[in-house]
Amino acid sequence: DASDIEKGTYPHYMLKEIDEQPFVIRNIIQQYQNEDGTIRLDDDIRDAMKQSDRIYVIAAGTSYHAGLVGKQLIEKIAKRPVEVHIASEFLYNMPLLSENPLFIFISQSGETADLRGVLVEVKKHGYQALTITNVPGSTLSREADFTLHTFAGPEIAVASTKAYTAQMAVFTLLAVDTANAQGIELDFDPLQELGIVANAMEVLTDQKEKLEKIARHYLAVSRNAFFIGRAADYYVCLEGALKLKEISYIQAEGFAGGELKHGTIALIEDGTPVIALATQEHVNLSIRGNVKEVAARGASPCIISMEGMNEETDAFVIPAVHEFLTPLVSVLPLQLIAYYAALHRDCDVDKPRNLAKSVTVE
Ligand code: G6P
Repeated sequence: DASDIEKGTYPHYMLKEIDEQPFVIRNIIQQYQNEDGTIRLDDDIRDAMKQSDRIYVIAAGTSYHAGLVGKQLIEKIAKRPVEVHIASEFLYNMPLLSENPLFIFISQSGETADLRGVLVEVKKHGYQALTITNVPGSTLSREADFTLHTFAGPEIAVASTKAYTAQMAVFTLLAVDTANAQGIELDFDPLQELGIVANAMEVLTDQKEKLEKIARHYLAVSRNAFFIGRAADYYVCLEGALKLKEISYIQAEGFAGGELKHGTIALIEDGTPVIALATQEHVNLSIRGNVKEVAARGASPCIISMEGMNEETDAFVIPAVHEFLTPLVSVLPLQLIAYYAALHRDCDVDKPRNLAKSVTVE
């Protein structure tokens, strides 16, 4: 049928969409580039970013995880304060708003009801809203003042992969454009660095066999799994754990490396898989310290590190990219590990139980 044709030779949409990520990043580089090599972004969006004194990112699920990385990008690059909120909680646990808030809604589908509830409310107050979405013309895109398109192409698998990396790439460009508009000097060329990211993604999608083995070794029979990381790696751990939960039904949690000892370490038993990300130079030693703590309690640690800070015993090494952009590449091995873990456990990868691609009820 038609869906088989779209899948091509791939057994699952998820695997196809993981593999598409380098092309999606290159597509974003093209779509957001002027002929003279500068970033192409609406003047209106630039003005809205410049005028707001605080940005409120609203999202759910994987898009929320992209928002956490987006906050770091905007704060580090454009020096603007950002808060990230889970859409379904925002109206209950509403923060005190700044004088000129700008709301950014991140949604692959552009249809998530929890986000729409917030958008309707903030528009009542006359606040400005920008939607970052893979579906321009979607409800959230139409009802917001501005839209940024993630250009990832249709995402069919319920577990989001390419939309997540696309959202972070768009955040990078938005952050740099906002920095430029404020005259902030940067020694970071986003289009070039995203090109390096795309190449690194390609290297990773060529290492499926290795990741399949890691999934088999650590996750084929385990009941639970932990993902630990610090700094940006922590946010990617949240996403890696969500991917694993969604499609393999293994109970998985992402933790900040330093928080583990304040409770969760009680769950570590003989053989508990602990996947640690180590892509951030400034926390490389401390995350490795956390790995030793769990290993001493019997855990089975699997370190995924970045070239340049790797050690010989690390299970997997990611090609080096700019430190701002490590989440765009470090998530790929986690996506693939989740994929193969689900396969080994005979799960329905593209249509996991109880989940919907887009949740249009609150
Ligand atoms: C659903 C999907 C998740 C997704 C979330 C947000 O729960 O199962 O994969 O991350 O909605 O979707 P959105 O389209 O708003 O990004």
